[in-house]
Amino acid sequence: KQSRKIDGDKVDLAEQSLLNKLIRHSLVRNRNQVEVLQRDPTSPLYSVKTFEELRLKPDLLKGVYNMGFNRPSRIQENALPMMLAQPPQNLIAQSQSGTGKTAAFSLAMLSHVNPANKWTQCLCIAPTYELALQIGQVIEQMGKYCPDVKLAYGIRGNRMERGIKLQEQIVIGTPGTVLDWCTKYRLIEPKKITMFVLDEADVMIATQGHRDQSIRIHRQLTKDCQMLLFSATFEDSVWRFAEQVVPDPNIIRLKREEETLDTIKQFYVVCKEKEDKFTALCNLYGSLTIAQAMIFCHTRKMAAWLTANLTKEGHQVALLSGEMTVEQRASVIERYRNGKEKVLVTTNVCSRGIDVEQVSLVVNFDLPVDMDGNADNETYLHRIGRTGRFGRRGFAVNMVDSKHSMDIINQIEMHFNRRITKLDTSDLEEMESLMS
Ligand SMILES: Nc1ncnc2c1ncn2[C@@H]1O[C@H](COP(=O)(O)OP(=O)(O)OP(=O)(O)O)[C@@H](O)[C@H]1O
Ligand SMILES: [Mg+2]
Repeated sequence: KQSRKIDGDKVDLAEQSLLNKLIRHSLVRNRNQVEVLQRDPTSPLYSVKTFEELRLKPDLLKGVYNMGFNRPSRIQENALPMMLAQPPQNLIAQSQSGTGKTAAFSLAMLSHVNPANKWTQCLCIAPTYELALQIGQVIEQMGKYCPDVKLAYGIRGNRMERGIKLQEQIVIGTPGTVLDWCTKYRLIEPKKITMFVLDEADVMIATQGHRDQSIRIHRQLTKDCQMLLFSATFEDSVWRFAEQVVPDPNIIRLKREEETLDTIKQFYVVCKEKEDKFTALCNLYGSLTIAQAMIFCHTRKMAAWLTANLTKEGHQVALLSGEMTVEQRASVIERYRNGKEKVLVTTNVCSRGIDVEQVSLVVNFDLPVDMDGNADNETYLHRIGRTGRFGRRGFAVNMVDSKHSMDIINQIEMHFNRRITKLDTSDLEEMESLMS
């Protein structure tokens, strides 16, 4: 039934199913390990406290347990008391990918609002449409037992009547639309906002487009509006800038060697050109049937090329890139979340924040580079962080097709001081031993 063409090579089905078993086994075993990790002081999921001890309102506690959370992660345990303190305190917080930052600030917003007040009190902005949507879904789930707290989505395509004032206590959105809602449409009274959250805060304040809009929103808020900044990465220059923008912040910062997760194994494959990368990818994909995979390309054009070729080979592939309509984007990500497609080919639009538990493989079909062609370490960390969510195991595979891209791998290795292991995708035995 599941015949697979792997560029002429007939891969022995018995070998393949053995590999699948190994991978499936490691995924399942890992799920049971979350609780173990939460008691290991070296793990970012570690906590000494329980959710009860964090003094959440009973309705919120119910929401948390309803999501299947048993214990807070380290960032949740550390950040929640700071965010809920009176008088309010600002916070700049860094925590590894997939360690539960969303729940941390969602709980803070849900605790913070006064449901009796029918106006917007908390504003949360994130860099992409998909991410804002996802955060909103988490807030809705978490706030399931707080029926009086309402949420509005300040994202493209969500048209609102001009002149009315929103009654929703929480607005989550992307900077452009939220700015319009504050200024052009006046749906929100910025002076009444008492909590301002920036997810993926480093891109929100460092990349030009987002930065201008975020700053324009920020300028309209009162000076004692509480500010909460979250990300898995903060470049040094961004830290300095953040500390200038945010008065007297509490700071939760990782050491460089703590930024990457042990649970994500990193590899590179040496290829000649894009056709060769494609073959390597098919080999990998063929071996990882049960996994969901995310494949990153540098350009929309490359993403489209890759999608077309994978589809030609008979693979079920979804493509998500920035130029699609919001309806298309929403439906692609929803289908992928539900496992309708096992593979998502994308550009950097999906590099940050997207949380799909079953993703066990991330492929950098093109390596992340900045405008000068140097390694983009932050984007790299976010991309590989789409796998290995909350203690799960994951694999990241980088396609290297030139001396330049080998240099980039070396730069990334040096930056995080983490080994990236060479992988030969035509050697099934080697793959089996390395990826078990
Ligand atoms: N205390 C908890 N117990 C169990 N699972 C949790 C807990 N907190 C969060 N999770 C789960 O962990 C996953 C990752 O969480 P989240 O998306 O908030 O990570 P993140 O820190 O924002 O990562 P990124 O830097 O990639 O955005 C989610 O699926 C979430 O449901
Ligand atoms: Mg996140």
